[in-house]
Amino acid sequence: MTLNKRVVLVSGASRGIGYALVKRLLDEGAVVVACARTMCETSIAHERLTKIDADVAVDGELDRVFNEAIMRHGTVDAFVANAGFAYYERLNEPTTSHIDDIFHVNVHHVIRGAARMKQVKGEEPFNVMVTSSGVAFVQTPGYALYSATKAALEGFIGSYRHELARGQVIQAVYPIATETAFFDRANQPHRPWPVQSADRVAKAMVRGLKKNKKRIYPLPLFPIGRVLTPWFFTWYVRREKKRFDTHHSIKRR
Ligand SMILES: NC(=O)c1ccc[n+]([C@@H]2O[C@H](COP(=O)([O-])OP(=O)(O)OC[C@H]3O[C@@H](n4cnc5c(N)ncnc54)[C@H](OP(=O)(O)O)[C@@H]3O)[C@@H](O)[C@H]2O)c1
Repeated sequence: MTLNKRVVLVSGASRGIGYALVKRLLDEGAVVVACARTMCETSIAHERLTKIDADVAVDGELDRVFNEAIMRHGTVDAFVANAGFAYYERLNEPTTSHIDDIFHVNVHHVIRGAARMKQVKGEEPFNVMVTSSGVAFVQTPGYALYSATKAALEGFIGSYRHELARGQVIQAVYPIATETAFFDRANQPHRPWPVQSADRVAKAMVRGLKKNKKRIYPLPLFPIGRVLTPWFFTWYVRREKKRFDTHHSIKRR
């Protein structure tokens, strides 16, 4: 798709990957509607940017953002479902509220937004881009719930693709660890490695949108490495398990 003058709705845009993406979309000439719970607290401003505070975990909030975008600009050409978070935790206590909370944000809002795009556009072309994660393929300790949400998105994207008309595209982005507030918010005590910048991911997302790519790997070595150097991922997961076990044995003391 061309981005110039296209209306792009981005969720989870107040910081990190979403924030970097908004900046790049504006540079490309897109009309951007950006939402997050603290979107209006951000300093970013532009005549083609609308900022909306919305909690996408709450029923009706994403619809409100879509309605506002349609009222202002007449349509939405692309929805980037980027809002998401993780818990770094051991699943040995009842965590029903964690299960509900993470699925509402990481999965439900994505599906609702994708369905809403179909409603808005009918048979016309549109793009839905979903920020998935490398954990959809390489599951690391401490992220069981998070990995479950990203794996659920794989199933949704793979099947929903078959319902779409010509020119309607659903795309998945697979970042590896990225330098954002994500890990602090998840309560992971150690810094991740290797990491890439949020802007690198945003750049790959913009390229992916323009080329209508189904799968976007901001670090192209990631899918190649999974095939050619599986031992690296085995070593990586083992190392993360040691860190996870140490963290939780310290917490128990
Ligand atoms: N960082 C990584 O290593 C990494 C790797 C792979 C995939 N990802 C994925 O990339 C996406 C963006 O993460 P990030 O790294 O940029 O993390 P981040 O810096 O923590 O940003 C998360 C964004 O999501 C928003 N958000 C969270 N809960 C929300 C809610 N209930 N309603 C509306 N917005 C909400 C946050 O805004 P508010 O707090 O203002 O609501 C924020 O704008 C996520 O889907 C994440 O799973 C991240």
